[in-house]
Amino acid sequence: MLVHIKDIVREAQKGGYALGAFNVTNLESILAVARAAVKANSAAIIQVSESAIKYMGLKPVTHIVSTVAKNVAAAVPIALHLDHGSSFDAVFECINAGFTSVHIDASSLPLDENINLTKQVVKVAHARRVWVQGEVGAIVGSPGDISARLKAIPLAKPEEVIKFVKETKVDTIAAAIGTAHGVHANEDIVFSLLKAIKKQVKIPFILHGGSGVADSKIKKAVKEGVNIINVGTDLKVAFCQTLINTCLKNKKETDPRNLLKPTIAAMEKTIMEKMKLFGSAGRYRAAKMET
Ligand code: 13P
Repeated sequence: MLVHIKDIVREAQKGGYALGAFNVTNLESILAVARAAVKANSAAIIQVSESAIKYMGLKPVTHIVSTVAKNVAAAVPIALHLDHGSSFDAVFECINAGFTSVHIDASSLPLDENINLTKQVVKVAHARRVWVQGEVGAIVGSPGDISARLKAIPLAKPEEVIKFVKETKVDTIAAAIGTAHGVHANEDIVFSLLKAIKKQVKIPFILHGGSGVADSKIKKAVKEGVNIINVGTDLKVAFCQTLINTCLKNKKETDPRNLLKPTIAAMEKTIMEKMKLFGSAGRYRAAKMET
């Protein structure tokens, strides 16, 4: 079922686990999140980036996610979120389309400008009862990136995160704490920084760059109070590798569905593993069918 993000995030906070926010790029990945959520008895966040919206169209993706949530995942809650909205207009369009949560990412601007733009978004979003995610300390890399090492992974300053949250009144906060988008050997989580932020900032914390971080570190981050973990690259890799292998093995196939079906199963498996790792699996009992 499609729900407001606040409903599932509050449950996650109470239960001491994290929700996966999965970046979708096509119908197959949307189906994979919905099916995994049902099988794992888990809530999930389906998130789209601006480039995913450009690829699928805002109305189509909003309608597909709503319909899949209602029909494929009727028994478990799913929320729709905009990931890394870069401008007031981009965010505003998603609010109008019916998203219950939007991320305004002005983290590359100086702090005061980031605060100003985020404040404007919060004003409009809250009037429509939509949650806003803010970001401090730009999180580098881009989902799908795979490189041995990134040149530098910048870190947020705790005092800036605290000031930002206080002044903007965002509902959730993302900050650079050592991870990056994509899979890179030098990604890590700086736990002293996470702890310093969590001590002062009580709103839900989002860990970006969930792919490429050791499972043990993800588990520790959940224990330290991370409430949402973004996963993009691992799904892109599961999709592409499976599609490439299936095509190579079936060069004469003429039905696209036969080439795409295995990609759904592969992403579903990855998502279910994440749900178990994040602790969200098993939290929602599938509704019993009336007979
Ligand atoms: P990964 O691609 O590293 O999983 O990061 C995704 C993300 O944080 C999207 O905002």
